[in-house]
Amino acid sequence: MDARKKRKILIAVAVLAVLGVIVGITVWYKIFRDVPQPEWITKNQSDNFLYGSIGGEADAGIPYWIWLVLPRMFPEYLPGPGGYASLGISWEQGREMPAGFSKKTIGFVRVGENCAICHSTSYRTKEDEVPKVVAAGPGHTADIQGLILFFTRCAGDPRFTADDLLAQIDLVTKLSFVDRLIYRFAVPQVKKALLDQGKGFAWTARLPQWGPGRDAPMNLTKFNLLQMPADDTVDNTDFPAIWHLAAREQAGRTWSDKTPNPIPAHTMLMNLDGATTSFRSVLIDSALGLGAKNTPFFNRRIPQLLDWLREFRPPAYPLPVDAQKAARGKAVFETECAACHASQRDNRMGTVIPIAEVDTDRARLDAWTKAAADGANAKVASLGITRTPMVKTEGYIAVQLDGTWLRGPYLHNGSVPTVRDLLEPPARRPQTFYRGYDVIDAQNLGFISNLAQVKGRKFFLYDTRQRGNGNGGHLFGTQLAAPAKDDLIEYLKTL
Ligand code: HEC
Ligand code: HEC
Repeated sequence: MDARKKRKILIAVAVLAVLGVIVGITVWYKIFRDVPQPEWITKNQSDNFLYGSIGGEADAGIPYWIWLVLPRMFPEYLPGPGGYASLGISWEQGREMPAGFSKKTIGFVRVGENCAICHSTSYRTKEDEVPKVVAAGPGHTADIQGLILFFTRCAGDPRFTADDLLAQIDLVTKLSFVDRLIYRFAVPQVKKALLDQGKGFAWTARLPQWGPGRDAPMNLTKFNLLQMPADDTVDNTDFPAIWHLAAREQAGRTWSDKTPNPIPAHTMLMNLDGATTSFRSVLIDSALGLGAKNTPFFNRRIPQLLDWLREFRPPAYPLPVDAQKAARGKAVFETECAACHASQRDNRMGTVIPIAEVDTDRARLDAWTKAAADGANAKVASLGITRTPMVKTEGYIAVQLDGTWLRGPYLHNGSVPTVRDLLEPPARRPQTFYRGYDVIDAQNLGFISNLAQVKGRKFFLYDTRQRGNGNGGHLFGTQLAAPAKDDLIEYLKTL
């Protein structure tokens, strides 16, 4: 080969190499570059809980502009006006995103979901008031089934195409040439992912509706994570408050007798039936459920969440409390309730109260099996994560009652709208009521539950006769005289 030819080839190789590097850098920059979220989110742990990433954006995220235009493009698949807020997702005034959605750049801007979509409470003291959002409280208004259905219907609509979506996106922003290319490439993939997600949830359509504030945690684990064959169980469960979990740690509880799985002593039993044997295990399993992966970020974020959720306290009851009544109510609480619900004393708070004793609806309990627990343990172990095991129990946990005023509707299935109703014998508890309104019921403790709609916003009719929705059991305090009940309710407001 003569020298000139050789030089030409060398130049060509060099040019190709440079081009390759440029393309490589562009691809990395536009598709994989992981940009930390802004400090206003990550430095305040409450904001971090509401808006921060849990690490699911890369695998389970939606491109931001698609997420943004879907409610504008397909309002007919939402229950009413207001975009995502119409599904009862908590939305603080002045925030760009509703709580529970994290916006993060991984190459391009994506939206993932975090814990707050189910674990943040929206409340108001009266109708004409801006909702306040409390991190780590129960998401009693959030219609997660409705959200999944919304995404599935959008993806199944013939207008879910790159052309139609880009035409909508053009109305709100100007995407660069490269970003348009990325969106063209991403749309069919997002469509497929959302349709697959819809198929994965098809089993929920055959069972009683979750309604706002609930999902089917054990069946989601069984059918979606473990791919176990569909069975006929119902486990619709209220989103629990997850604040101040140190209270249960301080109680130092374990449940070691009569369990088929060995549970280490001084284990903190979590989940409403105590099926998870440590606080860290619940967090890990929940984060994996949101699409998080076993990464260095995950290994930093989990301990940070643990520390924060241990100590974070619910806000004080926002309306006046009658101190004298509350003082009398404290005495009632001590004799009737403290044995199971007060922390830091020798009592049963944080332990599994046998189903025979509490006698509430047992469907949630029966939906979880030893086989499912073993499957979940094997699955998590296969991801290279070490955590204490899930087990099978025979009852429900008695939790601490701080922030009772934000915990309604009550019991594991959310079948009793107010504390006053819970203090009535089951036959006198409401057979049906409405869920999803966020104005607090000062009279009865809980949220207003007798209105079918307010200003065009329709609420969910909860029927206690449906499977898994039973409102029986927990007879504690039902025999008290009316004034003692009043006093007790007043005291519970102070917790
Ligand atoms: C899709 C809704 C949803 C999401 C998202 C979610 N959770 Fe939960 N969480 C639930 C439900 C429902 C339960 C109750 C499970 C049961 O039946 O025992 C629960 C239970 C818990 C518990 C146990 C509470 C107790 O009293 O024992 C903790 C702690 C918890 N979640 C933390 C988290 C964290 C942290 C995240 C985010 C990484 C998260 N969850 C994401 C719905 C959700
Ligand atoms: C023997 C133990 C025990 C006693 C005594 C007891 N409870 Fe409970 N409590 C439980 C258990 C177990 C649950 C959970 C049952 C379920 O969700 O199905 C529960 C649930 C609750 C809840 C619902 C919590 C939530 O977040 O949904 C409230 C409120 C409550 N109890 C109040 C009281 C009051 C008030 C008293 C006293 C009058 C009392 N309990 C006495 C065991 C007890």
